[in-house]
Amino acid sequence: MALQNNKQISEFGDFQTPDYLAQQVTQTLRALDIQPQSVIEPSCGQGAFILAAVNFFANSSQFIGVDIKQAHLDILQKKIITQHVTVPIKTICASFFDVDWLGILHGLPEPILIIGNPPWVTSAELGRLNSSNLPIKSNFQKIKGLGALTGKSNFDISEWMLLEHLKWLQGRRGIVAMLCKTAVARKVLFYAWKQDNFIQEARIYKIDALKYFDATVDACLLIIKIGDIKPKTCYCFEHLSDQKPSETINYYDGRVIADLVNYQKWQHLRGADQNYIWRSGIKHDCAKVMELVKIGGAYQNGNGVIVSLEDDYIYPLLKSSDVANGRVGDCRKYVLITQQYIGEETNKIQEQAPQTWRYLQENAAALEKRSSSVYKKCPEFSIFGVGNYTFYPWKVAISGFYKKLNFQVVPSINNRPVIFDDTVYFVPCSSEEEANFIAELLNYSVARVFFNSMIFWSNKRPITIDLLKQLSIQALAHEIGREAEYIYYTNKGRYWSFVKV
Ligand SMILES: C[S@@+](CC[C@H](N)C(=O)[O-])C[C@H]1O[C@@H](n2cnc3c(N)ncnc32)[C@H](O)[C@@H]1O
Repeated sequence: MALQNNKQISEFGDFQTPDYLAQQVTQTLRALDIQPQSVIEPSCGQGAFILAAVNFFANSSQFIGVDIKQAHLDILQKKIITQHVTVPIKTICASFFDVDWLGILHGLPEPILIIGNPPWVTSAELGRLNSSNLPIKSNFQKIKGLGALTGKSNFDISEWMLLEHLKWLQGRRGIVAMLCKTAVARKVLFYAWKQDNFIQEARIYKIDALKYFDATVDACLLIIKIGDIKPKTCYCFEHLSDQKPSETINYYDGRVIADLVNYQKWQHLRGADQNYIWRSGIKHDCAKVMELVKIGGAYQNGNGVIVSLEDDYIYPLLKSSDVANGRVGDCRKYVLITQQYIGEETNKIQEQAPQTWRYLQENAAALEKRSSSVYKKCPEFSIFGVGNYTFYPWKVAISGFYKKLNFQVVPSINNRPVIFDDTVYFVPCSSEEEANFIAELLNYSVARVFFNSMIFWSNKRPITIDLLKQLSIQALAHEIGREAEYIYYTNKGRYWSFVKV
């Protein structure tokens, strides 16, 4: 990779592909008998793919490369001269988001190959960098409400671009062949399959991103051939030169499935459970003020300040690492819980716990600085992800941060319900017996196989609340002959309130 400053690399997702890798990719395409008449590289950089394509696709008469950086295109022009390339290559310096792509594609001979390596950057990162290198309609998957507020609307720019490539080719003959994160490839396939885009064939070839880009991420070459719709299956290969797939991923039942055989076997367990609803832990976005350690009889906050606070609003806190490592009987940290439900007025703290109120006032500036929009127009010192369920005395929890399918029974600590951070998912339980029962069910082999059929372990966060919500705990209890216990616990008044009055 050429030496470039870090901000530039981040903002433009600028990881130039080594020539050797671009050549291997074009070889793989040729081995699949892909013979384009036109080749487009929509963010071509210094042109590794365009030049590899010129050498490998003799049938093609059109080569077009676009990049936002003139400096990259200048390097490409120099390479064209030093490598004595005689085929005309058209280069355009422009932002992907401003180009009239349909105008460019219009009249191009088919099949059209859209090849390359789009920028590796997320919308959240661009937000942090205050960059405008984004499509105008950024919230492109139209995630509404809470999802959009809590960052679910974050997306990879390459994901957006790949979906655009597919749109350009609708009604045409063509192929998209792009390097990208494997998680992005699966998301793109998911949307394309869901919308019944004309995918004739899909393949994913693993790429060693550490070797080629010095990046620790699961990356791949995604190949999508546009044509008559065929079964929604993608063949996955370990190496670019492999002939036999190591696995397949399938679109089935409205989801991308990792293991179709086991999914179909246990499909009847899928469904929303009416009684046990998965929840995320608390979000407060101000650890230095809200999280405390106990020192003797006092508390110390994240700024190292010793504070004297009433116990009323303080609860034991367990983080993802505690839950994942089974450290659940005791806690290293405590957390200030200022509300019992979202939107609750906080000014009553003043009367009930004056020292806590003073502490919050003293740290009001830090709390007000929280940038997440979930705190806007809420009572001061608000937290998020709190409700009746937060205060249940027993919980069955799993970390969404670790790659382990292991459900833990979590008791109260010193008679105070445990609070989790927002990377932990849990179901609330009323008693130890109930929590043991639920954990036994969830850790049972059938549940594991069911979850595993939908988990892509190479994802950064393979265990999500959406995944957990796919399993009907009642159907599982029925499956393994324990439905009577399920009914016993759910009829027993699980909805007692544990909220302080
Ligand atoms: C991951 S690099 C890959 C470059 C080239 N495709 C290759 O494979 O070597 C991403 C490229 O996207 C370019 N880029 C970033 N944002 C862009 C935009 N909005 N429009 C066009 N190109 C962009 C960068 O300048 C960079 O050259």
